[in-house]
Amino acid sequence: MLKDQTLLEIEEWAQQKLSECEAGHDWWHIIRVRNNAKLIHKKEGGDWNAILLAVILHDIADTKFFDEVEALMLIEQKLNEKAIEQNTIDHVIKIIQNLSFSKQWSDSTFSSLELQIVQDADRLDAMGAIGIARAFSYGGHKGRDFYNPEISPQKYSNASEYRNSNSPTINHFYEKLLLLKDKMKTNTGKKMANERHRFMESYLEQFFNEWGETD
Ligand code: ADP
Ligand code: NI
Repeated sequence: MLKDQTLLEIEEWAQQKLSECEAGHDWWHIIRVRNNAKLIHKKEGGDWNAILLAVILHDIADTKFFDEVEALMLIEQKLNEKAIEQNTIDHVIKIIQNLSFSKQWSDSTFSSLELQIVQDADRLDAMGAIGIARAFSYGGHKGRDFYNPEISPQKYSNASEYRNSNSPTINHFYEKLLLLKDKMKTNTGKKMANERHRFMESYLEQFFNEWGETD
């Protein structure tokens, strides 16, 4: 088990790093993902230390906000400084490197139960009522339209196309959020995703009813 003081210092470091990210990727996101991960870990098992550290540190290496290579180096340095075991550090780094939705286009074959748990926990926070709030927060932060009936959802073929897209936020539901349910890795994650998925579907139904005719 990690010592409380060590954990606290790593958390404080991560919190400070995330303080400039938009509201959907702030420290509250980390707390919600940690809660999701705890529920999944309880049922599925896995190394809690690796899961917890990866949850706390995962968005510091998010390419939307930081340079990934530099961030991974800083994370490794920080974990070394706090005397975390080398094999845990290596595992945490691998989890973080392979976590993002945009990594579906990478050729990495790494997998572990702990990666699956952190990934499901992170993706659950992209779904449901919270997921909707986060999508509009991020879209607003990027100055995107929330909806434009003249622009259809796209199918991306690589990470940079996905990242640099200027799609309206409603399109992001079709380009990512509604796809997550079938990409959950753990049985517990799959069960937790169902209700959030249904909520997004009914939200979209209401949205289009209110929008009315498009011409
Ligand atoms: P990951 O965290 O797996 O790397 P993304 O970076 O694609 O996934 O997205 C993280 C969250 O950021 C999404 O769940 C969503 O809330 C928000 N987000 C990312 N891209 C968009 C977008 N184009 N439009 C609206 N929200 C987005
Ligand atoms: Ni995240």
